[in-house]
Amino acid sequence: MRQHVNPLSSYFQLPIELPSPDELFANSELPIHLDIGSARGKFLLSMASLDSTRNFLGVEIRKPLVITAERNREKLGLNNLKFVFCNANVSLETWLAKLPRTCIEIVSIQFPDPWFKKRHQKRRVLQPSLLLALANNIRPGCQLFMQSDISDVLKTMKLLVEISGCFEHDESLNELCLQKSPFPIPTEREAYVLARGLPIYRVTYARNNKPIPDLLQLEETYKKFQCLSSK
Ligand SMILES: C[S@@+](CC[C@H](N)C(=O)[O-])C[C@H]1O[C@@H](n2cnc3c(N)ncnc32)[C@H](O)[C@@H]1O
Repeated sequence: MRQHVNPLSSYFQLPIELPSPDELFANSELPIHLDIGSARGKFLLSMASLDSTRNFLGVEIRKPLVITAERNREKLGLNNLKFVFCNANVSLETWLAKLPRTCIEIVSIQFPDPWFKKRHQKRRVLQPSLLLALANNIRPGCQLFMQSDISDVLKTMKLLVEISGCFEHDESLNELCLQKSPFPIPTEREAYVLARGLPIYRVTYARNNKPIPDLLQLEETYKKFQCLSSK
């Protein structure tokens, strides 16, 4: 599972135009659950089979995994699910900006690549610009769910979300979330971690109605807080 690609390499900086919901799903009116870093797609394949009231979109930077996931989706005949190859940090913003704000209902980032070394942390998927692109294009109440088996990874994502000011803790869900994912299906990584009895760190936020902060300012503040928290 952890055969990382470097999302900052020039190959992954080329923007890819993602298809519109009309081209992705049979019924483009359904709300979308966007899963960032969907890997082989086992989680979404099961979710989409269980829940026909939503569309599911998995975005993944490793093309071979997308090809496998799409092959399995076709075998199951699921038309409320699609997997697309892209670097979420490069191609999602433009796609999100074209959607009506009511389109996305849930965003999940589950067990993102940890990039442990300090100098590699810029490769982690949740960066200020992606967070603001999400916040800018989802309606208040829309959920952002994040989980990881590495406490520092979740801590850093929480730090960014909280200093952005655009999301509130969904208290009603967080009680449950600490123990359990809100979804009926574990992801591949989640099943692996659970089977070994290791801890999982989780949090759910809801978009509030506060305005989007300035990107440069958020990046500055995030950097400062990261420095402080690593001392
Ligand atoms: C550790 S895996 C977890 C996969 C799955 N979410 C799970 O929980 O089993 C993280 C996934 O995120 C993908 N990924 C990392 N950076 C990405 C990016 N910038 N855009 C899209 N996908 C990315 C990786 O290729 C990998 O498949």
